[in-house]
Amino acid sequence: MKGVVLAGGLGKRLWPLTRITNKHLLPVFDKPMIYYPIQCLVNAGIRDILIVTGGNHAGGFLELLGNGREFGLKELHYTYQVGEGGIADALSLAQDFADGEKIVVILGDNIIEKNIRQGVAHFFAQPRGARIYLKEVPDPERFGVPVFDREQIVRIEEKPAEPKSNYAVTGIYMYDEQVFDFIGRLSPSDRGELEITDVNNFYIEQGTMEYSLLEGWWTDAGTIESLHRAGNLVATGGANHAEPVEAGAHAEG
Ligand code: G1P
Repeated sequence: MKGVVLAGGLGKRLWPLTRITNKHLLPVFDKPMIYYPIQCLVNAGIRDILIVTGGNHAGGFLELLGNGREFGLKELHYTYQVGEGGIADALSLAQDFADGEKIVVILGDNIIEKNIRQGVAHFFAQPRGARIYLKEVPDPERFGVPVFDREQIVRIEEKPAEPKSNYAVTGIYMYDEQVFDFIGRLSPSDRGELEITDVNNFYIEQGTMEYSLLEGWWTDAGTIESLHRAGNLVATGGANHAEPVEAGAHAEG
C-alpha cells in the first residue's frame, strides 16, 4: 500500500510562526512536525510515500527530508499544491502516484502516540471502500464529527456547533481508487475549500466506510494551543518513534 502526507496550506492559524516557514517544518519538541506523520506511515509498513506540499516555503521539505534516508526509505516523492484549495484538493494531486492502488493518507500536522498497523491491516483486507480512525476528544466541535446510529456512522459533520458524538475524525484516512472520482464531484465549502469530510460522506452514502478507534493519544498541531500541546505530549508521553521493520510487513505491496 502507498502513503500520502498532506503538508500544504498557509498555516494561517499559526501566524506569525508560519510567515517565513511552512507549518509542517515547525518544531514539535525535538523534531520538525512532518517527521511524525512520515514515521507513522513507515511504522505501518508503508515504504512508498508522497509528500504533497504547497505555499511559499515548500523548498524546505526537500532540503530537510531529501530521499527519506533517515526513515529507512530509498526515496520520497513530492508534489506541489498551487493555492489553498483544501485537504481534498491536495489529495487529488496524488492520483498518478496512487496509480489505482489503495492509499493511506495522513495530515502533516497529526501526531499519534502509538501506531496504525492494525487499522491498515484491516483496510488491506477490506474488498473496497474507505476506513477512518476516530478518537474520543473533549472538544469535538474543532473537528469532523461522526454521527452514529448505534455502531454505524450515518454521516460526518465538519466542525459542528453542537457535536452529535464525542469523537473526532482524525487526519488518518484510507481510501480505494474511487476517492479521486469523489473528489472530482466536490464543490467548495463555505470556507472555500474542498473538504475531506465531503469525500468521507460519499463513502458513507455508498455504505463502504469502515472505522477504527485510535489507541493512545492523538493531537493535531495547527493552532498555537495544539502545537504547544503536541510538543508537551511528545516530550512527556513519547510519540510514534522509529520501530524495527518487520520482515514481510503486511502493508507492503
Ligand atoms: C481537518 C478536517 C477535520 C479533521 C481534522 C483532523 O480539519 O477538516 O475533519 O477532524 O483535520 O486534524 P482542519 O485541520 O482543516 O481544521
